Amino acid sequence: MKVVIVGSGYVGLVSGACFSALGHSVVCVDSNEQKINLLNSGGVPIFEPGLDELIKTNIEQNRLAFSTDLKTSLRGADFAFIAVGTPTRQGGSEADLTSVYAVASEIALSAEDGLVIVTKSTVPVGTGDAVEAIVRTSRPDLVFAAVSNPEFLKEGSAIDDFMNPDRVVVGCDVPWATEKMKMLYEPLRAADAPIIHTGRSAAEVIKYAANAFLAIKISFINEIADFCEAVSADVSEVANGIGHDKRIGRAFLNPGPGYGGSCFPKDSLALLATAQSHTVSLRVVESSIAANDARKRGIGRRVSSAFGHSVRGKTIAILGLTFKANTDDMREAPSLNIIAALQKMGARVRAYDPEGMEQARHYLQNVEYASDAYNCVEGADGIVIATEWKEFAALDFMRIAAIVSHPVIVDLRNILDVHKVETAGFELHRIGSPRRSETASIQAAPRLLRPKVNGQGEHSSAAHGSIRPVSNSLALQNRYPIKGLA
Ligand code: UGA
Repeated sequence: MKVVIVGSGYVGLVSGACFSALGHSVVCVDSNEQKINLLNSGGVPIFEPGLDELIKTNIEQNRLAFSTDLKTSLRGADFAFIAVGTPTRQGGSEADLTSVYAVASEIALSAEDGLVIVTKSTVPVGTGDAVEAIVRTSRPDLVFAAVSNPEFLKEGSAIDDFMNPDRVVVGCDVPWATEKMKMLYEPLRAADAPIIHTGRSAAEVIKYAANAFLAIKISFINEIADFCEAVSADVSEVANGIGHDKRIGRAFLNPGPGYGGSCFPKDSLALLATAQSHTVSLRVVESSIAANDARKRGIGRRVSSAFGHSVRGKTIAILGLTFKANTDDMREAPSLNIIAALQKMGARVRAYDPEGMEQARHYLQNVEYASDAYNCVEGADGIVIATEWKEFAALDFMRIAAIVSHPVIVDLRNILDVHKVETAGFELHRIGSPRRSETASIQAAPRLLRPKVNGQGEHSSAAHGSIRPVSNSLALQNRYPIKGLA
């Protein structure tokens, strides 16, 4: 089948490459000539693991091409996908649909009978009706259908999400177009992917509801993490404990510095705006947005408190800049809030990210960029893990301990091995963990009260420099009685 995808951004490129890998003949169209030239010369404008290889293979197999010419590309096409951006409207919170409508008008000019126009862009409910009206007005006699087929691709694992989806949602109210959509996705259905057929409006709502729900889950666990800190519980144990309940599920229960990226913040706001325009309150969604905003605003304070509330004149090393790992995307990245707050408090910021530094330069000022993680932390008064890149968990912390000025780490993603890092002599601050000083006090207390054995005893834990005095341990003992403590 011939598939034309309009918009060679993240969603368009990944979808185009994947449809071609399923055996369809795909043309990705974009009005940005520079981008199309880059793609035609073998380059890929975004970082997504595996995408360059997939594009290369399918170009070689003559199943994938790139063009700026929509009119020619639409000749003989079965599908025209709209995959352009829907950013937040300037000065508002609703999605800006200018590009979607412009593309719909352009498709209408060259569409042939039997074309299925599919919206993949994230759009508010009712957009399919508007797209249909635009095409119908322009071409009253054209035989076509307007379908909603939202994407559920996560940056960093988008190809796997496309090829092994939890579900494919096809929102279509026209039987012949539904049959065509079934043929398009037949290779995935044959591989057992659930294909869910819904009405068009339901599909549009599903996309926003899914993102809003995941955002709510993250905001929820972030607040539970704060609660865990206050009551000396470990949030990862809590997340595992509740996540084993199939009704809850363990995914997206990792606490952190607040969710970012181009989707959750924008889509939660847009959902709220659409609901408000229908005079419906979505209080839970509203709270999740407020909780995430507060978290991101407060994250600088949280970091500076780990460094003794004073970072003026200190050098803070930020490991990780992107909004999550395995992407170069800096949109709404929590690192932006952290760095702005630290700079405002007078800190010098040095940063390193495996993929995001080029993008970061467009967002940040007065940041010194390091060539690798070791170079970043050299002489630093504190280290912040802001993104969960695997390579940070694998660092040699003994080596790092020897080159930092002060051995304090704030792990905002809970990716570091506590034992490894503390053995190297670091004071480690995590999200939603019992304060290390309290844990250490609990462990150290029996030794403190016992006579020294083999000349050891009180010293080993105290080496962390964060052990509470015995009196504090006793205060803790009163709150949480520990067997063996007098
Ligand atoms: C999200 C959805 O997960 C995709 O299903 C959807 O297709 C996509 O938006 C979209 O609408 O296009 P994405 O923004 O790429 O994908 O990234 P996620 O992996 O969902 O992460 C979003 C944010 O939540 C990140 O800042 C991440 O660090 C944070 N997060 C995620 C947590 O803080 N904790 C978690 O447990 C999971």
